[in-house]
Amino acid sequence: MIRPIVLWGDEVLEKPAETVTNITEEEINLVRDMIETMYKAPGVGLAANQVGVAKRIMVTDPSAGERKNQLITVVNPEIVAVDGEQYEEEGCLSVPGFSAEVVRPRKIVIRGVDLNGKEVVVEGADLLARAFCHEMDHLNGKFFLDHLSFIKRDIIRRRIKKMMRDGKWE
Ligand code: NI
Repeated sequence: MIRPIVLWGDEVLEKPAETVTNITEEEINLVRDMIETMYKAPGVGLAANQVGVAKRIMVTDPSAGERKNQLITVVNPEIVAVDGEQYEEEGCLSVPGFSAEVVRPRKIVIRGVDLNGKEVVVEGADLLARAFCHEMDHLNGKFFLDHLSFIKRDIIRRRIKKMMRDGKWE
């Protein structure tokens, strides 16, 4: 089931999501819906709080569903190691219509558990590293906008607030 994507301004995106202590039918359904929602968008990653559920779960697929075996689901992800830097334009399904250049590590190693509760360690480079960092930010109540200078962030924030007032942010 495709779930509505929560937009910037909703408080579920502004606070850290909670650690998942037990993987039940509910989490499995949630992940299935997150994957469907991400592919429909289409996007290369989605955090559970982007569909309004404050749980530390993220899905990523740098091919946005175009290639097989690119889909990664991590529950309770933690950053183990980072290396290098990359500068690329980045956007967010919760901030539609806006993007900005954000510096991220070139490579990243993430540790967490899969839907069977088994520990997983995954390494991502380039776009996947960017997606991991971006979704980890969401799970920590942050946005890519938080990596911009105050001035750039404020310009975007003002434009969104105006769209909200005009009823165009939904
Ligand atoms: Ni995002």
